[in-house]
Amino acid sequence: MDFRLTAEHELIRESSYKFGQQEILPGLRERDRAAQSDRTMLDKMAAGGIMGLAIPEKYNGSGTDYISLGIACEELERADTSARVVMSVHSGLHCMTLLQWGTEEQRQRWLPDLATGKRVGAFGLTEPNAGSDAASLKTTARKDGDSYIINGQKTWISLADYADQFLVITRLAETSAKAPFAAFIVDRNTPGFSSRALHGKLGVRAGNTGEIFFEDMRVPADCMIGEEGDGFKVAMSALDHGRYTVAAGAVGIITACLDASVKYANERSVQGEVIGKKQLVQQMIASMVQGRDIGRLLYYQVGWLKNEGLRHTRECSMAKWTNCAAAFDAANKAVEIHGAYGFCDEFPVERYFRNSRGAMIYEGTHEIHTIVQAEYELGYRVDRPLAHTLPTYPFEV
Ligand code: CAA
Repeated sequence: MDFRLTAEHELIRESSYKFGQQEILPGLRERDRAAQSDRTMLDKMAAGGIMGLAIPEKYNGSGTDYISLGIACEELERADTSARVVMSVHSGLHCMTLLQWGTEEQRQRWLPDLATGKRVGAFGLTEPNAGSDAASLKTTARKDGDSYIINGQKTWISLADYADQFLVITRLAETSAKAPFAAFIVDRNTPGFSSRALHGKLGVRAGNTGEIFFEDMRVPADCMIGEEGDGFKVAMSALDHGRYTVAAGAVGIITACLDASVKYANERSVQGEVIGKKQLVQQMIASMVQGRDIGRLLYYQVGWLKNEGLRHTRECSMAKWTNCAAAFDAANKAVEIHGAYGFCDEFPVERYFRNSRGAMIYEGTHEIHTIVQAEYELGYRVDRPLAHTLPTYPFEV
């Protein structure tokens, strides 16, 4: 077992941190206040080479390993959750699922433009009446010659207004398949596709979230990812990748809480000494450090399992569940340490508090992961090796 990060990991940490500080933080408070997403952030991320992490070089990717993707997510979320969400949907839910399930022809067709950020990918699973119970989704795909006709609606879609293509999970309208689901890559320029932004969110206000609609949308059959009947497995695989990026990003929030709280605790004085000397403040700082260090070990482990091509659904759920709860707890403590200043946006901790709450809902609620972990332990849920796995690292060139 080797816990050392490579020089490449360190470089990615440093460059992602700098990117966050230089490209994401300027003007963020105003954008967050105005609930205004910034489309140019995607172009900046593409120019910064971030969109192709964990994609093999033969598809124009950076050729870096899966741990690198986690590290980038951690450092981006240290600046703002909206930037990490881009990685979650584009790199995690979309590109890595394509890498895992796409045929060689499909990978060659889509990944090169996605890896360079020329095109942006997103994910559509959730519907107004299908959240935790993903299998109750109602969007249908009906076979018609060499195409499928898709009708329905997806909600809470990150990058709904900006993504060029979506990995959409549907229910097959007429099928003999045992599991009646199918996944498709859908281009936003397809007739019958439309999107609409959602407003009034508690957090991630600088990020674009919306709904996407499909009205008699004709999609060529060769845009199906996997076979008829594979759709639910494709969706669950996508969540193995998305949850990984969320777990890594949560560590970034904890680090950001520590950055702000340590600084404040060493500046703010009460009764003639800085509050960092107060044991109750130290207890909160220590608890955040604990969350950060445990969180890193959990997501590094998942990154390592991905590198090895091993099933990691249980470990990924554990990392997402633990880290997101630790991030919300850290943000709550950071607000506490800042006192009244933590209650307004003069300091960033109130934004961390709002943003970290969302991650306990999306990509599997806190309750879903609690139940899933109990089911593994009780023997009701078992992870078997999968027929489709990610390419192992080092990648074939
Ligand atoms: N990879 C591949 N296949 C998988 C898999 C995985 N990770 N997990 C399960 N499968 C397969 C199983 O092997 C099974 O196949 P067989 O029938 O052939 O054995 C099939 O998929 C069904 O799996 P389960 O029996 O585990 O399914 P379930 O109904 O028990 O799942 C659940 C229940 C785990 C709660 C699942 O519904 C779930 O994860 N719900 C939460 C949904 C969620 O996270 N939604 C978030 C939406 S996306 C989002 O939030 C993105 C965003 O906003 C940015």
